[in-house]
Amino acid sequence: MKSDFVSTVSHELRTPLTSIMGSLALIKGGAVGALPDRLKSMLGIAYSNSDRLVRLINDILDVQKIEAGKMEFRVKTLDIMELVNGTVSASGGLASEYGIEIVVGESTPGPKIMGDDDRLMQVMSNLLSNAVKFSSRGDTFEVNVSRQSGSVLVSASDQGQGIPKQFKDRIFEKFSRMSPLGGQQVGGTGLGLNISKSIVEQHGGEIGVDSVVGKGAKFFFRLPELSA
Ligand SMILES: Nc1ncnc2c1ncn2[C@@H]1O[C@H](COP(=O)(O)OP(=O)(O)OP(=O)(O)O)[C@@H](O)[C@H]1O
Ligand SMILES: [Mg+2]
Repeated sequence: MKSDFVSTVSHELRTPLTSIMGSLALIKGGAVGALPDRLKSMLGIAYSNSDRLVRLINDILDVQKIEAGKMEFRVKTLDIMELVNGTVSASGGLASEYGIEIVVGESTPGPKIMGDDDRLMQVMSNLLSNAVKFSSRGDTFEVNVSRQSGSVLVSASDQGQGIPKQFKDRIFEKFSRMSPLGGQQVGGTGLGLNISKSIVEQHGGEIGVDSVVGKGAKFFFRLPELSA
């Protein structure tokens, strides 16, 4: 009952919000003529906040789906390197905006897995956006793929603030967020890693993190390798 309510309300919120975003995008893109600079920057704020709301609503809907056991996966054979490179090109813009360099270690040919590419890209892009949020300009985000006795290991390391030991056990729980060590404000709800964990586990894998505070965090996930 309660979760039905949350899902319905979230859905109902998303529809008008998508239309607000569409209109803002058109105005921003100059569809109604040139805009004065001050208006442009305010529109930018309105647009990025609607975008944030849409992402939040999508995350809430995902959590509901997971908890109801209704998250569906469209599984096919995937090349893990294509998935990694796909994420980097899809969300690499965010990294360059924040001055973070992305380095992808080569693994040719990329090991194959069975999985849902959209959902696994969601995992990768959450790791990437977290690395960006908790790093500083000039830092590097490094992704490596390796094979280990029947599984494929993807690791994503950053040089950001890292994760204190006492917080490491809670990091994959819903709504768990730590105040940024530098005191800067970063957006987020604390759902990304919880959703990522469910997605990885429903692929028969596991996810974890190693970190040294002040030196960075290394997230990794392991998925069963599809034998050739
Ligand atoms: N790479 C990282 N370095 C340091 N801390 C991190 C890193 N990734 C996650 N965290 C910590 O774990 C918390 C939870 O991450 P998670 O991705 O679940 O949520 P979020 O990024 O805050 O919000 P959302 O992903 O829902 O937009 C973060 O708020 C942060 O405190
Ligand atoms: Mg996140």
